[in-house]
Amino acid sequence: MCGIVGYVGYRSVPELLLEGLHRLEYRGYDSAGIAVLGDRDIEIRKKAGRVNHLAELVRTKPVTGRVGIGHTRWATHGATTDQNSHPHVGGNGDVVIVHNGVIENYDVLRKQLTQLGYVFRSQTDTEVAAHLLSHHLEEQIRLGGEPGDVETCLKAVYATLDRLKGTYGLGILFRECPDTLIAARCGSPLVVGVGKDEYFLASDASPLVGYTKDVVYLSDHEIAVLQPGNLRIEHRSRGSVSPSVQTLEQVASDTDLGQYEHYMLKEIYEQPQTIENALRGRLDGEEATAVIGGLNLTAKELRRIDRIVLTACGTSWHSGLVGEYVLEEFARMPTEVEYASELRYRNPPMSDRTLVFAITQSGETADTLAAMRECKRKGHPTLAICNVVGSTIAREADGGIYLHAGPEIGVASTKAFTSQVTVLTLLALYLGRMRHMSYPAGKRIIGQLRDMPEKISKALECHAQVKDVAERYHHFNNFLYLGRLYNFPVALEGALKLKEISYIHAEGYPAAEMKHGPIALVDQQTPSVFVVPRGGIYPKVVSNMEEIRARRGPIIAIACEGDTDIARIADDVIYVPDVEEYLQPLVCAIPLQLLAYHIALHRGCNVDRPRNLAKSVTVE
Ligand code: G6P
Repeated sequence: MCGIVGYVGYRSVPELLLEGLHRLEYRGYDSAGIAVLGDRDIEIRKKAGRVNHLAELVRTKPVTGRVGIGHTRWATHGATTDQNSHPHVGGNGDVVIVHNGVIENYDVLRKQLTQLGYVFRSQTDTEVAAHLLSHHLEEQIRLGGEPGDVETCLKAVYATLDRLKGTYGLGILFRECPDTLIAARCGSPLVVGVGKDEYFLASDASPLVGYTKDVVYLSDHEIAVLQPGNLRIEHRSRGSVSPSVQTLEQVASDTDLGQYEHYMLKEIYEQPQTIENALRGRLDGEEATAVIGGLNLTAKELRRIDRIVLTACGTSWHSGLVGEYVLEEFARMPTEVEYASELRYRNPPMSDRTLVFAITQSGETADTLAAMRECKRKGHPTLAICNVVGSTIAREADGGIYLHAGPEIGVASTKAFTSQVTVLTLLALYLGRMRHMSYPAGKRIIGQLRDMPEKISKALECHAQVKDVAERYHHFNNFLYLGRLYNFPVALEGALKLKEISYIHAEGYPAAEMKHGPIALVDQQTPSVFVVPRGGIYPKVVSNMEEIRARRGPIIAIACEGDTDIARIADDVIYVPDVEEYLQPLVCAIPLQLLAYHIALHRGCNVDRPRNLAKSVTVE
């Protein structure tokens, strides 16, 4: 989703901003722009389309200066046009801003500002904030403030923020205030990179990698003033804040494509390693349990818990569904999975014995954050299962478990899904061993988890088979994905992957439930992908396959190696290693990720940056 980058210091500002914008591309966007404060004016270059188009524009019409802001826009209010791209100018050009978030009261403010004579050049909510800031700046000048004085500018920022409702991460330049960049945050992430005589601003740490390891994460209602050699942070109501500088772990090579053509493929292939990372140091063979250090709850407190609520969006919600099954099975713990966007506005009865987990790769998803805050407000311990260290959810949670999967750049989540499932399984083992699970059962699970990186490597050997299937199926326009029990969430995830990156309509369904509706869609033009590895109800799923076959629907089966029977019913079979049922989501996700990837390639889609989607959804 929208990305912000900013810089003040001695380096070449346009190059730095463009590089930062390139690094933020993975978040999803449709236009880009930069503004640089030079000796006399703020120069803006912006354009609908890719950062490369913007870079070309900057090459033909260069800008210079020592301070600047940049933005990748993911449209919310107003179409994707040059005019709607950020940065936006306030008043007569005395202020220029970039914004991530949504100004909810923009309509009222726009009317008021129009009456005051402000002329709007775009349809965005952001331009309202720009004009409002200009209005308050003029007010401060009328009251005697110096236009080039940072205190005057800050007062105008405070007055503006008081009138904005909604969410924002803002980067602001003032024409008369040299070498100064002001940032403000409420609901949309911002991080300040601390260098020697230079400061960076960004929506996430990726633009800072290679420049500085020292970062300050801004909290909601904080305002930062960045000047060469001087960083000042204030809380809107509590005043001056002493910056808490943290060290970034990410290294530049984490975001290199290496030998791969796309990030999605690279991340699919990283899964033996990322699952190993999720398991590292967390298996205790002696005690036959998992070691989970960061929950910040004592064993006594954990034993009091009688219900778990998992909340998430998108792929993370699917991993939550696997989590529900495994937590109930291993720990006999009543568990529910809630869409964060629903939970945040619902008021389900939850006792003080309910433990809440927010599951999120980015740690910035607006709905997941809001749902987590709502649960916190009501006094529930809220923990996070999160990938991005230092993200808002990771910081605000009472504790949690990191995935350690490294940066996930492909918009369609792959490695985060399998890491989340791994971590939820560890959690189920840990809670199970605290309650009812026997020592031998715990031992068995530990052994099986230890084998998983190797099993995932084996699962990746299906790649050639998947390529071949993709070649033959890429022209179909509707797919059903069907599975039961642990493989139902996998069916949902497989369908989501296909939708996200190939724009093909796909529905995931519990295999038996398809008789209650989706079966009406089945014909020779609607393939069904069955996730049907061997297990307790394998024959039942095979019956569901027969039902599809009787209606002449093409069938692709994801089955256990050695299962030759399945080939008699399915048109195509993709084999994965045989593992225990609770681990099947891990191995079965692999061919489905690869299938979506290859079908998307056949259809000429941009797999890493699918249209309309964002990696980090920071608006509600
Ligand atoms: C977006 C991404 C999905 C992701 C979802 C939740 O929609 O495109 O891939 O699953 O957000 O993101 P989170 O970072 O909270 O896991």
